[in-house]
Amino acid sequence: MCGIIGYVGEKKNALKVLITGLKALEYRGYDSSGIAYFKNQKIEVAKEKGKIEKLEKILNLSTSSNIGIAHTRWATCGIPDKINAHPHSSGKITIVHNGIIENYEQLKKELEKEGYHFISQTDSETIAVLLDKYYKESQDILKSIIKTKKRLTGSYALAILCEDIPSKIFAIRKDNPLIIAKSNDASFIASDIPAILNYTNQYYILDENEIAILSKDKIDFKNDTLETINKKVLTFNGDKNSSTKGDFSHYMLKEIFEEKDVIKRIVKDYNDIDQLIQNLSFLKKYKKFDIVACGSAYHIGVIAKYLIEEHISIPVNVEVASEYRYKNNFLDNESLAIFISQSGETADTLACVRKVKEKNIDTLGIINVEESSIAREVDYAIYTKAGPEIAVATTKAFLAQLIIIVLITLYLGYEKKYFTKEFLNERLNELSNMDSDIDTILNSSYEKMAKIIAKHQNVFFLGRNIDYGIALEASLKLKEISYIHSEAYPAGELKHGTISLIEKNTPVISILTKNSTFDKTINNIKEVKTRGAYSIIISTKKIADTEEIILIPEKNELLLPILAIIPLQLLAYHVASIRGCDIDKPRNLAKSVTVE
Ligand code: F6R
Repeated sequence: MCGIIGYVGEKKNALKVLITGLKALEYRGYDSSGIAYFKNQKIEVAKEKGKIEKLEKILNLSTSSNIGIAHTRWATCGIPDKINAHPHSSGKITIVHNGIIENYEQLKKELEKEGYHFISQTDSETIAVLLDKYYKESQDILKSIIKTKKRLTGSYALAILCEDIPSKIFAIRKDNPLIIAKSNDASFIASDIPAILNYTNQYYILDENEIAILSKDKIDFKNDTLETINKKVLTFNGDKNSSTKGDFSHYMLKEIFEEKDVIKRIVKDYNDIDQLIQNLSFLKKYKKFDIVACGSAYHIGVIAKYLIEEHISIPVNVEVASEYRYKNNFLDNESLAIFISQSGETADTLACVRKVKEKNIDTLGIINVEESSIAREVDYAIYTKAGPEIAVATTKAFLAQLIIIVLITLYLGYEKKYFTKEFLNERLNELSNMDSDIDTILNSSYEKMAKIIAKHQNVFFLGRNIDYGIALEASLKLKEISYIHSEAYPAGELKHGTISLIEKNTPVISILTKNSTFDKTINNIKEVKTRGAYSIIISTKKIADTEEIILIPEKNELLLPILAIIPLQLLAYHVASIRGCDIDKPRNLAKSVTVE
């Protein structure tokens, strides 16, 4: 949800650094972008509607400047156009903002009465105007920032320039991520680590109620009463190149091909029973789970519910975070609330963590981005170790979450004596030896099926039990990147209304990894085929009378979802590619949804 980058350094190459940083953050939003930088002691602003390359074209990147801030937008308040693009300026103040100011209309009215004039439809411009007002009154930027913060309701990550102070960038945040980083000769602000990795792997996390003051040679942190704070510097140990596309045509494809490595990375920490006990024994005292997440991470919750209830007999309630945050829950001191999030910053999921914590309920985060807000606020965190995921549509992070859920099921099953030690060891062994199976899936051809699906406007995914969870994710993957409408249904449910949409050749993709429901789903497939559907099946066994079959290797049922989702991710990718879609940056989307 919007990307922010700021640079102040020895070298006078601010525009180049900022544009490169924006490109690394483009996955966060790409409706418009803009930049503000000092040139001859004056703030210059440039903005463009559309992708960052359009902004790049209107800039002279060799302009001499050693300080600036920049923004790539995912529009919330105000249409995506040049006027609403950030930065926003008022008087001597220029800002870029990620988040949403909920009381902006009230503030705007108040400021208009005082004679201030607004040119955009955004909530963000209100921040610039408020800062300008308080700065005019006090001529003190830090006091103005503190006063402005007190007036804002909502969420924000803010980078601020003041024309009277051409050597410094100021930053604050609330409920939106912002990191502050230092290299030998420069300081940086960024929404996410990939934007600074070309220069340094040392960074700080700005906490709420802190102000960062960045100069080229130092960074000061102050609290709300302007006392200096000493902060711990963190080191990013991941692979710098993981945020580049390499030889792949898209990040999404690269990330699907990385799934093998992700499995290996996770399994290294859960190699045997002792490691499982060491890492997961905190789970054994709980008698029920609530799982809360959004989008694909919610689908992991659905899969987890099927797995845990069936194998461990622990009740699991799974809910979408945007609903959970406004309804009653029935947790008690025997419950664990589990939050699944790749980014660890999703606003609704984060709000649910806070809501549950208020009731003193224990919380677990299954998180990819270590040091993210959710990771820092939960009682227990399990990291999914998928590495930076750049494509907006999640693939490898989803797979990593799935593996963690399988490992939790295995551990609890063993702990509660549903699974023997031998069973557990066999599964761990299977999990560590999936390379050649995954290679087979990666190297299969999906083009023919993709070409057929690409011609349709409606596609259905069917599955029962855990296969329904996989169907939900496969359907989301297809629709978000190819813009084909698709729906996932529990296989037996379609005939209660939706089957009326099946026409001659409507693609229906059915997932059959579950033995106990296999025959029932086959019957449901017959029902749609009778009505003309073009049937594609994902299964471990050959099935007569279906147009297409994607065969996945035979494995224990617990592990099959891992193998079933990969061809479906690839299929969605190829359909989107045939339709010429912008696969890594689908329209209207952004990664890391930090607004409600
Ligand atoms: C879909 C996708 C989204 C995210 C959702 C939650 O491909 O990526 O549905 O899963 O926005 O995001 P996180 O996991 O960051 O909380």
